[in-house]
Amino acid sequence: MDYIITGGAGFIGSHLARVLLQQGHTVDVVDNLSTGNLLNLSEIKNNIKFHNIDIRNGANLKKVLAGKGGIFHHAALTSVIQSYQKEQEYKDVNVDGTKNVFEAARDTGTKVVFASSSGVYGNTNTVPTPESAKLKPANPYGATKLEAEIMAQKYGKEFDIVGLRYYNVYGNNPTRSSSGVISRFYQNTIENKPPIIDGDGAQLRDFVFVGDVVQATISAMEKDTGSAFINIGSGTATSILDLANLFIKHSKKNLESIFQKEPEGNVRTSQADISLAKRLLGWQPETKLEEWIESLFTP
Ligand SMILES: NC(=O)c1ccc[n+]([C@@H]2O[C@H](COP(=O)([O-])OP(=O)(O)OC[C@H]3O[C@@H](n4cnc5c(N)ncnc54)[C@H](O)[C@@H]3O)[C@@H](O)[C@H]2O)c1
Repeated sequence: MDYIITGGAGFIGSHLARVLLQQGHTVDVVDNLSTGNLLNLSEIKNNIKFHNIDIRNGANLKKVLAGKGGIFHHAALTSVIQSYQKEQEYKDVNVDGTKNVFEAARDTGTKVVFASSSGVYGNTNTVPTPESAKLKPANPYGATKLEAEIMAQKYGKEFDIVGLRYYNVYGNNPTRSSSGVISRFYQNTIENKPPIIDGDGAQLRDFVFVGDVVQATISAMEKDTGSAFINIGSGTATSILDLANLFIKHSKKNLESIFQKEPEGNVRTSQADISLAKRLLGWQPETKLEEWIESLFTP
């Protein structure tokens, strides 16, 4: 199949590109390299077609999306903290840019699988959280993802759009591209510095391995699910303090975490109910967080 990935020079998109190529598909990447990097695509640069296009430019986007077999839409601005300072830019990219993708896809009836986020739930009391839970984002980033979902609901009546609510994605290279807190804890422990925890460390997060996320994303494209929103997480929760302790334990360093003020908009508890992903996609995550952390420190 002839696929296109927006945001394909980023963390998840570049892993997706690699696996699609391995499966024999043709891959075009659209990215403006604002947070992504061509280095993420260096081993496959001769096997993909790269388009340096901003998704805010609907006309250019339309030209490259035309005639594709499926669109993986992963381009977005993704920092919760920055989304407070650059609220308008976040809306322009994550909402209006997504609208451009949906409009281009509608012209040709091309299926879209797009990266939504667990951020659409905000601080929910329903944990593990099913897709039917109330959507109340806790920060501007999450709000842009919810706006994108609302558009997807509208456009998704005319052609298939699947929104994947990714939880905290981690791996493969822990320094270059990974879930933020994992990169920070890894970087500090290898430099013999203590992990720095925002707040009390009791916040719960659902960490899911990028290889598992890629498998779920491809299944969402291939399976005939119709338009849907689906949680993609590990289904388990780890506290930030426990995460820090896993890095300390497996690095075998004599370190003790230190605590700093928690930033605004930090969600307290995040854990996916993944029954819908299991049922609709026949998917379940394979990689265990602790085994992966241990492997980082195993020569
Ligand atoms: N990593 C996670 O834990 C996580 C969790 C939930 C949702 N998501 C979503 O998954 C998607 C991929 O996330 P990621 O972690 O790979 O982020 P990333 O920042 O590594 O990748 C995003 C890519 O989009 C590109 N981009 C940004 N603005 C653009 C624009 N205007 N035009 C074209 N390209 C643009 C960037 O250059 C980058 O390559 C995003 O939509 C993100 O919101 C990620």
